[in-house]
Amino acid sequence: MKKINPHFVRKDFPMFKNEVKMQNRPLVFLDNAATTFKPFQVIEAISNYYLYETANSHRGDYDLCYNIDLKIDEARLSVANFINAQKNEIVFTSGTSMSINLIAYGYGVKYLTKDDEILITQAEHASNVLPWFKVSELTGCKVNYIPLDKNGKLEPESLKKVISKKTKIVAVAHVSNVLGYVLDLKELAKITHSVGALLVCDGAQSVPHVHTDVKDLDVDFLSFSGHKMCGPTGVGVLYAKYHLLEKMSPFMMGGGMNAKFDMCGDITYLLPPVKFEAGTQNISGILGLKAAIDYLKMIGMENIHQHEQELRKYAIKKLKENPNIIIYNEFADSGIITFNYKGIFAQDLATYLNSQGIAVRSGQHCAKVLLDYLGEFATVRVSFYLYNTFEDIDVLVNTLLKGGDFLDAYFT
Ligand SMILES: Cc1ncc(COP(=O)(O)O)c(C=O)c1O
Repeated sequence: MKKINPHFVRKDFPMFKNEVKMQNRPLVFLDNAATTFKPFQVIEAISNYYLYETANSHRGDYDLCYNIDLKIDEARLSVANFINAQKNEIVFTSGTSMSINLIAYGYGVKYLTKDDEILITQAEHASNVLPWFKVSELTGCKVNYIPLDKNGKLEPESLKKVISKKTKIVAVAHVSNVLGYVLDLKELAKITHSVGALLVCDGAQSVPHVHTDVKDLDVDFLSFSGHKMCGPTGVGVLYAKYHLLEKMSPFMMGGGMNAKFDMCGDITYLLPPVKFEAGTQNISGILGLKAAIDYLKMIGMENIHQHEQELRKYAIKKLKENPNIIIYNEFADSGIITFNYKGIFAQDLATYLNSQGIAVRSGQHCAKVLLDYLGEFATVRVSFYLYNTFEDIDVLVNTLLKGGDFLDAYFT
């Protein structure tokens, strides 16, 4: 394990250049669960495509097309290696939301019936709830909830208690975007498979931060987004075991995914994964995602996770020194910390922090039912990444200590 020097890492990220300011102050960016900054290497991969490599993919007959096909293939292999999958198990999508919708429509709507059940938790992001509501609406199956423990974490024992032969899909986030617990996916997969159900993993907050091995975890599906891992927006990944991709229906139809079709409507699809990639792919996005993966691999996923743990430990210790701060996930194991300041509405606090150059997220974080569970209307969330420094936390903590200023800020 190597200790990351975030001050050096920052040199790769133009958003940390001196010219970039928020409220005329140096930027303290603590909203990495929402999106992350991009290093020059990623920006260069994207701009090189537009500057020197532009062509459409899908087997054109000249060198530029041939080059792009090769590069997309290389990118697919790189994503596969990153999560220990096979190349043909990687579908490029627009992000986690699209990936989960693809599972819902391509598998859920096709195979589930009114007697079946999908299990999720109250801690899920909207993208891992609403697609399942749609499956329920279209097939009549039920969406039920696995109980969380008193800290809002899903323990395998709780799944054991509620799972049954009716359960066909268990869909959970490996790391919750509000409370930041890292779930024991391996154990959850064993329990899920014991009744013949499939485990859908929302990896939006895990793949960018913790080393992920789909074979070892034995998940059936995994979704993640490029923009949360130093890559571009508009590109993401659906991993699925190949035999499941073979069984699934495409959810988008068009060019690039069929071998032939006739006037009567008979269509022969290409094999997965391209069967699920209708239309022109997000080529620059895919090339940018590959560059992001190369970058994260150069730094090392274990080193990134350790860096975030150290930041977390330091931040929790410092935040606890302030009696006005209520922390909701003191014992989580990722770089996500969720809190409130006594007597101050979360959004007001976030607006105040913005006035001091600090970017945090406030509100319900797309996990509306979890906030009901916590008994809060809104919370403030900070989330770290490889380029965050201990000084970032000092700025946050010292700003929060000047509690009285919050009210002053309304009257200036
Ligand atoms: C846990 C989780 N799932 C899904 C998503 C949706 O990701 P995207 O908006 O990139 O599709 C997010 C985004 O914040 C998330 O945190």
